[in-house]
Amino acid sequence: MAKITVIGSSSIDLVVTASKRPSAGETIMGESFKTVPGGKGANQAVAAARLGAEVYMIGCVGDDSFGKEILDNFTKNHVNTSYVEPVTGMESGTAHITLAEGDNSIIVVEAANKKVTPEFVEKALQRIRESDIVLIQQEIPEDTVEYVSEICREHDVPLLLNPAPARPIGQKVIENAAYITPNELEAAILFGQDDIHAALKQYPNKVFITEGKNGVRYFDGEREVLVPSYPVDAVDTTGAGDTFNAAFAVALAEGRDLQESMRFANKAASLSVAKFGAQGGMPMRSEIEGSY
Ligand code: RIB
Repeated sequence: MAKITVIGSSSIDLVVTASKRPSAGETIMGESFKTVPGGKGANQAVAAARLGAEVYMIGCVGDDSFGKEILDNFTKNHVNTSYVEPVTGMESGTAHITLAEGDNSIIVVEAANKKVTPEFVEKALQRIRESDIVLIQQEIPEDTVEYVSEICREHDVPLLLNPAPARPIGQKVIENAAYITPNELEAAILFGQDDIHAALKQYPNKVFITEGKNGVRYFDGEREVLVPSYPVDAVDTTGAGDTFNAAFAVALAEGRDLQESMRFANKAASLSVAKFGAQGGMPMRSEIEGSY
């Protein structure tokens, strides 16, 4: 069984569906409102667990009712929470999501996720060292991402960095990570809009640009390759990137080659968008096997 450790955010998504996005100063009537589990870290942990990995989450929640909901959701999805702690006097992270015109826009309030510090992560060092792969994103402090990249390098544990949401990253982190998976927007911020192809070439088999329904682009050492995605009628694309990252990590940890791992991850991501909510459509292993 693949041993995956996810270090990152755990939140509750507050999702409004509307026919359009309001302009500044405008009030419009929405169609529906729902609260569902989210946060990029938690989403990746749940997706990996549904795909059959042994998953440990390292993160923080608030001491509010959302925190309890997040913990219950981990348990329901067989994610180990030995390293998830409630923070006294803090609220849980939230993501304020508008679904309109076929896409989402998101404002994230970090809250307790700010407490996922290097000192906090250090408590889980033993588990990190025993992992087949570690997954991390950027809804937690920057110095934590740096610290994790250092310990993964030191202990020879592959690190998959999903650089979302976008922010500049130090060269050391880029060097330390084994795999980096920006979307097109994040890649432009990391490498500059005009340098994407040069960046792919500079980091063969390491930088994988997720291009939504087009697929995933990388440089295989000789040429740039686009691994196509699977066509699907999308209901909600929230969490598709998280599903891709988790599935990619699971397949790599199981020893599959890069191409097969990307096909597996593309299949998982395509299934994830067919239902509402970041985690709503995340597939179980049986839904993917034999179909990618
Ligand atoms: O990647 C999707 C996630 O990003 C959502 O679940 C939301 O929590 C935001 O952080």
